[in-house]
Amino acid sequence: MEAKATESGTLEQREKMMAFFKVMDLADGHMRTSALTAATKLDVASAFQPGQRCTIEELAKKTNCNQQYLYRLLRALTSIGFFKEVETGVFEHTPMSEALMSSHMRDIVMMSGLRSMVEPFYDLSETVKNGKINEAKVFEGHPTYWDSLRTRPEEEAIFSRAMTSFTVTCAPQLVQMADYNQFETVCDLGGSQGILLSEILKQSPKVKVGLNFDLPSVINQNKNNQALIKTRDPRFQEVEGSFFTKVPEADCYTLKNILHDWDNKAVIEILKTVSKSMKPTSKVYVYDFLMAEKSTPENSFISWLDIKMMALLNGLERSLDDWKTVSNGCGLKVEKVIPSPMPHAPTLVIFGK
Ligand SMILES: C[S@@+](CC[C@H](N)C(=O)[O-])C[C@H]1O[C@@H](n2cnc3c(N)ncnc32)[C@H](O)[C@@H]1O
Repeated sequence: MEAKATESGTLEQREKMMAFFKVMDLADGHMRTSALTAATKLDVASAFQPGQRCTIEELAKKTNCNQQYLYRLLRALTSIGFFKEVETGVFEHTPMSEALMSSHMRDIVMMSGLRSMVEPFYDLSETVKNGKINEAKVFEGHPTYWDSLRTRPEEEAIFSRAMTSFTVTCAPQLVQMADYNQFETVCDLGGSQGILLSEILKQSPKVKVGLNFDLPSVINQNKNNQALIKTRDPRFQEVEGSFFTKVPEADCYTLKNILHDWDNKAVIEILKTVSKSMKPTSKVYVYDFLMAEKSTPENSFISWLDIKMMALLNGLERSLDDWKTVSNGCGLKVEKVIPSPMPHAPTLVIFGK
């Protein structure tokens, strides 16, 4: 009996010790994000090809880095799946480091590492206490995050590129969720670089006009982006404005990953503005992640995205009940919910008058 008690005591102690180290490890999780951002900024992944081996001397030369410091960065990153050290100071790619060779992946990592994306998390406990972010601090004295972003054009460009990089991965499937050929005019609200709208036009020959609606600073960047201009469909038009003020008349309005940026009061305001320009038959197609009743390992990324929206914007990921509350507030009805066709892609909620 005594021996067993000692054994179980030891086991308990070991479990406690493991829990202690696990918590310590999680508390330092920000270092992993920062190390990943640093390797991405330095573009270490593109310095050699998959299947090749590269010494730290060569890598330091190619990335213009201090050899010892770069070695220490890469050695730490190998422990979380980026690069493999096949012998001391010699590295190979892994699937995750190879992913960093894609400019889309790099854009997304760079956006997540932006100061404006990281700093508000320092105040998360205050945000949770108050049920609201400190807007004056987070938005640096501007009325919204988007106004503050406009004062940092380089960050704004990184943000737009990252949204594009995420949207291109799922746009074809998102467009297949609906029949856009039934509409003459489709307007994508907060369309950023116009990726979703371009895909709608590509898949829907009967649509006559596509309006890409966003803030003037974003539309101006699009108009000066030769690479984007080259890919534009003749039916594609850029329209600048604010969805809090007035939107153009259209048969279908799409909003992809827009409304989760805003609290219910703002969402009701946006949808009321849209409603004013809608014809009786117009529809509003909202692509956002649907918050499930229970968090599971499969949908936990939505709970974490929800925290991001909370900490940065006072926004949230919504459940079907949340969408019904919002629609009641703006006089629209939830007509249909079409589930996401692939993991990590949004659901489509259709609203009508
Ligand atoms: C999270 S991004 C989503 C971009 C795009 N829909 C996508 O999923 O790739 C939000 C977009 O909303 C735009 N936006 C923010 N406030 C706006 C406003 N008042 N009127 C129009 N667009 C706005 C931003 O400029 C940005 O392009």
